Amino acid sequence: MSNLMAIILAAGKGTRMKSALPKVLHQIGGKPMVQQVLDAASFSGADKKVVVVGFGAQSVADTLAGQAEFVVQTEQLGTGHAVMQAKRELSEFTGTVMVLCGDTPLLTGKSLAKLYAEHTEAKAAATVLTAVMPDPTGYGRVIRNAAGQVEKIVEHKDASMSELAVSEINTGIYCFEAKELLAALEGLTCNNAQGEYYLTDVMAILNQQGHKVWAVKADDYRETLGINSRQQLAEAEGIIRRRKLDELMDNGVTIMDPNSTFIDSQVEIGADTTIYPFTWIEGQSIIGANCEIGPNSRLSNTTVGEGTTIHFSYTHDCVVGKHVTLGPYVHLRPDTCLKDGVKVGNFVEVKNSTVGEKSKIPHLSYIGDTDMGSGVNIGSGTITVNYDGKHKHRTTIEDDAFIGCNTNLVAPVTVGRGSYVAAGSTITKNVPPSSLGVARARQNNIEGWAEKQRR
Ligand code: UD1
Ligand code: CA
Repeated sequence: MSNLMAIILAAGKGTRMKSALPKVLHQIGGKPMVQQVLDAASFSGADKKVVVVGFGAQSVADTLAGQAEFVVQTEQLGTGHAVMQAKRELSEFTGTVMVLCGDTPLLTGKSLAKLYAEHTEAKAAATVLTAVMPDPTGYGRVIRNAAGQVEKIVEHKDASMSELAVSEINTGIYCFEAKELLAALEGLTCNNAQGEYYLTDVMAILNQQGHKVWAVKADDYRETLGINSRQQLAEAEGIIRRRKLDELMDNGVTIMDPNSTFIDSQVEIGADTTIYPFTWIEGQSIIGANCEIGPNSRLSNTTVGEGTTIHFSYTHDCVVGKHVTLGPYVHLRPDTCLKDGVKVGNFVEVKNSTVGEKSKIPHLSYIGDTDMGSGVNIGSGTITVNYDGKHKHRTTIEDDAFIGCNTNLVAPVTVGRGSYVAAGSTITKNVPPSSLGVARARQNNIEGWAEKQRR
C-alpha cells in the first residue's frame, strides 16, 4: 500500500447538464468522466480510492465496481460536506489524501503525480493545483498575500470585484495531509452565497491554524477544465480527442484529417497505419500495423490484424484478421471472426459467423450464424436463411465450396467440402462433399413462341 489515497467527489447531480444521467457518467474520450479521473488517480500511485456518490449513487457505483470504495452523500451540501462523508476512511489513514473532482476528466495521471511530488517536497499540510484561465468565470479564485502565499480560495459567487479580476483559479484538485484535513473540516460553516460547506474554506482554516498551505500551477490550464455544461463537455471532448490523435501520430500512425477522426482513449493502433477522414474507432479496439482504415468507417470493439483495409464500413464486437479487405459498405455484427486474407465487399452483412482464410463474400450477401471454411467463394446475392420465425439455425460451408449467385441456404444445412451449389438454388438439404447441389426449376425453352405471340 502506498502512502497516497484518493477521494473522488462524484455526488452532484450536475444540474447544468440538464440530464437524467449523473454528470460524472457522461462519456468523454469513450469513458465515463469519473472513470478518466479514477484512471489518473491510479496512475499517480493512489492504491486506495474512495468515491463519494450521491445523485445516481447506484449507477456510479456499478460503473466503477471493483475499482474503488464508495461512501454515500445523501444530501449534496457542498464539496466540504462531500469529503466529510469519508471521515472514517480518513481517520484510519495516515498519509497524503488527494481530493479530485469527478468532473475534471482531462487531468492526466502525470500531472497528478507531479502535484503529489511537489506537495511532499514542500512538506505542506495542503497543496492546491491552480491554473491561469483565459476565462475564469465560475471558478473559485486563488487569493495570495503580498508575499505570494495562498491565503484563501473565494468562490465566484462570493467574490468581490477585485477578487473576480484574479485569473488564477482553483482547479478543485488538492493534496492534503489526512490528519490536518480532518481537523480543518470540523471548522467548516455554510455562511456563504450558496449556503454550502465549501472544501475550499479549508485553505483559510489551515492558514489560521498555522499550517503550510501551498499551491502548484498546472502547466496547461486545459487539463484542469471542469465540466458543468454540455458545451464544456463538447470542448473537453475536443481536447481529449486531439490528445489521443497526437499520441497516435507520435507513435507512427498517419491521421489524414484530425478534425474528422474520432478515436477513443483506450484504442491501440500499429505503426504505418493510415486513418482516412470521417472515421470513428471506439471502445476496446485494436488495429494492427500497415492498415488502411476509412474513409467513412466506424469500428467499435473491433480487433483488426496487420495489413487490412476497411473502407466505408461499420464493424462492431468482432475480430478481423490480417490482410483482409473490407468494403465498401460492409456491416460486421457481433461475434463475427474473419480469418486472414478474407475479402468482404459491396453491401454485405455478416453476423455471428466465422469466415475461414482467403474466403470471399464480394457482393450483396447476408451471412448469419455460419461456420465457413477456407477458400470458399460466395456468389453475389447469397443469403443464409437462419431464422424460422422462432429459432436461429446454423449454416456450415466447408473448405473450398463454391456457392453460385442468388442462392438461399436454408439452415440448418451443410455444404460439403469442395462442393458447388448451382446459381439460383434454394438449398434445404445437405450437399455432400465434392458434389453439385442444384435446387431450381429446370429451364424450358419454347422455340418460336415470341414470333407467334407478336402475330
Ligand atoms: C468547485 C470549487 C471551485 C473550483 C471548481 C473547479 C468548491 C466550493 N468550489 O466548484 O473552487 O474552481 O470546483 O472545477 O469546492 N460534489 C459532491 N457533493 C456536493 C457538491 C459537489 O460530491 O455536495 C462534487 C460534484 O459531483 C463535482 C465536484 O464535487 O464532481 C465539484 O462540484 P461542483 O458543484 O461542480 O463545484 P464547482 O461549483 O464547479
Ligand atoms: Ca465543477
